[in-house]
Amino acid sequence: MAKMILNADVKLGKISKHIYGHFAEHLGRCIYGGIWVGEDSEIPNTGGIRNDVIDALRQIQIPVLRWPGGCFADEYHWQDGIGPREQRPRMINTHWGGVVENNHFGTHEFMLLCELTGAEPYICGNVGSGTVSEMQQWIEYITFDGESPMADLRRANGRDEPWKLTYFGVGNENWGCGGHMRPEYYADLYRRYATYVRNFGGNRIYKIACGSSGGDLRWTEVLMREAGRMMNGLSLHYYTVPGTWSKKGSATEFDHREWFVTLKKALAMNDIITRHSTIMDHYDPDRRVGMIIDEWGTWYDVEPGTNPGFLYQQNTIRDALVAGITFNIFHKHCSRVHMANIAQTVNVLQSILLTEGDKLVKTPTYHVFDMYKVHQDAEAVELICESDQYQYGEESIPQVTASASQDRAGRIHISLCNLHPEHEAEVNCELRGMVAGRVEGTVLTASVMNAHNTFAQPDLVRPQTFDQALIRGQTMIVKLPPMSVVVLSLE
Ligand code: AHR
Repeated sequence: MAKMILNADVKLGKISKHIYGHFAEHLGRCIYGGIWVGEDSEIPNTGGIRNDVIDALRQIQIPVLRWPGGCFADEYHWQDGIGPREQRPRMINTHWGGVVENNHFGTHEFMLLCELTGAEPYICGNVGSGTVSEMQQWIEYITFDGESPMADLRRANGRDEPWKLTYFGVGNENWGCGGHMRPEYYADLYRRYATYVRNFGGNRIYKIACGSSGGDLRWTEVLMREAGRMMNGLSLHYYTVPGTWSKKGSATEFDHREWFVTLKKALAMNDIITRHSTIMDHYDPDRRVGMIIDEWGTWYDVEPGTNPGFLYQQNTIRDALVAGITFNIFHKHCSRVHMANIAQTVNVLQSILLTEGDKLVKTPTYHVFDMYKVHQDAEAVELICESDQYQYGEESIPQVTASASQDRAGRIHISLCNLHPEHEAEVNCELRGMVAGRVEGTVLTASVMNAHNTFAQPDLVRPQTFDQALIRGQTMIVKLPPMSVVVLSLE
């Protein structure tokens, strides 16, 4: 049993739609094959971009897309990716599989993808192996509307108008693949590079400094102290890895123990955000600087028989639970977490979409993004939740997690996750500060822990109408099936 109190009149702040953001790197089959097929492909496309992917991303109202990496970003030289495609240099993607990168997907193609899907662009610049001038020129190329060498080059490449560029990251994981720097050194570099990330015309860039990974609090401390005043956002990466980095565990072949461990590690996101937030609060009590969780999600061993450098993994109802749990946590921290980007959009890590030739599969994680989109830009509402514990061996975690928000039309949405793979959960929710006459809902669940969608069975795990919630006066009673994600709408 879970006891909840919904205080509909207690608002906790706006849930930025950017929390539902995505990340697409030049890695494996994410960009090439997954998003970009080229104009001459037989796969239906618009300007080289797959139509099925465009439609799927529009459906979930993708708010923002981070590109081109990841580790790839600190080796990427943007001038390689402009001009006639056949003349663009070919290079080796040393980080990811050692395959040839032909640079056919570059700045113009990325901006087209954003235009077609409605996503705001979030570009990550090269600090690790790039120069200040290279970064400065990229911004000028994209956003300058006057006469200048870079704006003229953009025009020569077929784009007259500057683009609107909202988000820019100054490097990625510069404590690791982005240069193995110390925080003191990176903080100084950030200050230097960020100086030249200029606002041209009416374009205003939200500058994001590279943040830490998981528990490295010292990185956050130094960055906030030395460079906090010069940034709009500070990133944070956290991946849910059930095993160790050398043996992470399979995406589809796992037992109850691995299920439990995965969800427990996903829940750790709450603690990680809280610890980094505490440091940020010290330097930035008004919460001006956003925490930008620009890489999160599950990371398993690659699918057997696939390139280990391509990070291709399947996606089950377990991943849907990870997504639901994580969004409930982000909602709780919405006054500090301004953006989050799941890793990654297509065919890499916790993908929302998988492709094979002209076929496309929507994963269980995709459906969570679709169900939860009602929370985008809604007001978070207080939901006090006391859940039974889900016990496994000596350890336990809450069986149910939940969050609530109110949209512009006044509707309340409650999202609930039942983490237990075998037991249903009864929820008794007192409704305060509102009068609800009607409740309807959607559920995502499965009968086995590793249920997933394949190219042969693309709709095995898909949202269904939920009719196990009823309102009795000021109380709502809900029966959550085992391993389920439910979103309710109250009017
Ligand atoms: O998402 C895969 C990789 O994970 C990214 O390139 C890197 O930033 C992180 O370590």
